[in-house]
Amino acid sequence: MIKKKILIINGPNLNLLGERESSVYGKLKLKDLYAYLKKYVLKKDIIITFFQSNEEGKIIESIHKAGKNKEGIIINAGAYTHTSIAILDALRSYQGLIYEVHLSNIYAREFYRRNSYISEVSNGVICGLGFLGYELAIDSIVYN
Ligand code: DQA
Repeated sequence: MIKKKILIINGPNLNLLGERESSVYGKLKLKDLYAYLKKYVLKKDIIITFFQSNEEGKIIESIHKAGKNKEGIIINAGAYTHTSIAILDALRSYQGLIYEVHLSNIYAREFYRRNSYISEVSNGVICGLGFLGYELAIDSIVYN
């Protein structure tokens, strides 16, 4: 059985999970998310790779590198979601499935968070469910 490869990208400020605006994003850290997801995929035929960067260019390069080698990308692009046509363009060149995830419900927050450039190329969008959103996105790639 060939294992499916999924790249999980977290964008700017998500390295500060647990410390940053915990009333919005919760008290758990990024390393807790990684541990939670690693445990979740343990008995599944999936390999997950994590990438986090605060830099737009590095996020774009990680998407380029994923190329055709991964079945899916799960991306929480943080604030770049609302601003980055460059990340949108990089995702357009990606051949696999794309799921956009946000920990918080971006539609219940400030007006400027309601627009997502990434949604346009996403197979699915999950927001407001915290860590569970990443788990559901994994399942969606696996069962696709
Ligand atoms: C976020 C929502 C974005 O608006 C914000 O800039 C983030 C995190 C989320 O996970 O809820 O950094 O993507």
